[in-house]
Amino acid sequence: MTAQLPWNAKEATVGELSDRSGVPPSALRFYEREGLIRSRRTSGNQRRYSRDTLRRVAFIRISQRVGIPLARIREVLGLLPEGRTPNRADWAMVSECWRDDLNSRIAQLEQLRDRLTDCIGCGCLSIASCHLANPHDALGEQGPGPRRLLGSSPPVADGTCAVDVADCAYVADAVDAVDAVDAAEAAETADVADRN
Ligand code: FES
Repeated sequence: MTAQLPWNAKEATVGELSDRSGVPPSALRFYEREGLIRSRRTSGNQRRYSRDTLRRVAFIRISQRVGIPLARIREVLGLLPEGRTPNRADWAMVSECWRDDLNSRIAQLEQLRDRLTDCIGCGCLSIASCHLANPHDALGEQGPGPRRLLGSSPPVADGTCAVDVADCAYVADAVDAVDAVDAAEAAETADVADRN
């Protein structure tokens, strides 16, 4: 059952937030535990999110989708004010901080697009150009991964956002774990209801 958020609602339940953002409730709860979003509790101990949380969730999802680590997302979201709805100037500041991260990823995606038919220095030695571009896997001595993609990426300004998808995998695993707990809780609740 979906819970549609009325256009004029100032706050959203977890179901409404999930419905409008397209993000499962378990992932929203995970974001909250990780300090990326906040809610208040009603007298009945239910979560209520301010409507502007939708923009934060959208920002988190899109940032994750392009491979930005959760720690970096948290750091940037920490620049937004607490206790009031972030305005255009607040988001402009976030955008400015994000520029290096995004430029770095754009450069990598362009490399991936333009060089995927060429040797990428990954150690496979599986295409003809590897023997010239990476003879005897010499690039492996520079470190792990596709060296011809990674090695020529522009440096990130403050070094806090080198390419690292580990955090994203961590998020996926954590959300899976939360889903499993939710499923177990739902099954238990259904069990109790059956027995009563
Ligand atoms: S493509 Fe893998 S080493 Fe060349």
